[in-house]
Amino acid sequence: MTDLNSFQTPIRLDLCSWKEVEEYLNHSKGIILPVGSTEQHGPTGAIGTDAMTAEAVALEVGKRSGVLVAPVQSYGMAEHHLGFPGTMSLKPSTLLRVINDLLLSLARHGFQRVFVINGHGGNIATFKAAFAEAYKVIASSEEFLEKNFRCQIKSWFMVPEVFQKSKELYGDKEGQHATPSEISLTLHLEPSLKSKQCPLPPPSPAGPIYSYQDFRKRYPDGRMGSDPFLSNSSHGELLLDKAAISLTEDLANFLHEP
Ligand code: NI
Repeated sequence: MTDLNSFQTPIRLDLCSWKEVEEYLNHSKGIILPVGSTEQHGPTGAIGTDAMTAEAVALEVGKRSGVLVAPVQSYGMAEHHLGFPGTMSLKPSTLLRVINDLLLSLARHGFQRVFVINGHGGNIATFKAAFAEAYKVIASSEEFLEKNFRCQIKSWFMVPEVFQKSKELYGDKEGQHATPSEISLTLHLEPSLKSKQCPLPPPSPAGPIYSYQDFRKRYPDGRMGSDPFLSNSSHGELLLDKAAISLTEDLANFLHEP
């Protein structure tokens, strides 16, 4: 059970003054950047699932580590979900430029370790490309005096302890999209979402992802092999804790790596 009161005040960049950020940089060069997506999550899941979950995990890791948390980047690469109303996507080339600009903004102030906590698998390739672009710019520009800039991306749902617990709780009903584990976390964060949950017919099995037209044909209600009706808020609380424990450790290792 997570006891929120036992943690220090969350350290949110959006609530800091620039003076406080300047002071923070005197003792830490690390920052957490949560990233999600604004995309369909099946007929009963919230469009904001990936952004809400990434932000919650990031704030939890921030509380436990004392590392500053940037505002969530709520828009991600969700081209394949555009066949469903409500999805708002950045194509890979746009997302790459957005992330590159954000990383260079941080590097300019002296942040040297950006720990990205991700809620959406579709973001990973583009983020890795954006990291490579940022390293290139920083290495070759005199504007950036500090050359030792590093980024890491970790997806909370791929944390081994989270993955294992999800398998234990849901077996093969976890599926690959609109999963009961991510929906459970949203129910923990926003109890009103419970009212959308209802039993659903068996989903289309998970398979390949191509165009959004093809996605909608293969996965007509947006789910990929998942049964989100198995979700509940106490599972969500447990998974949040497991993700936070593991990612707090990963973050400490990242900040201290040679
Ligand atoms: Ni998701």
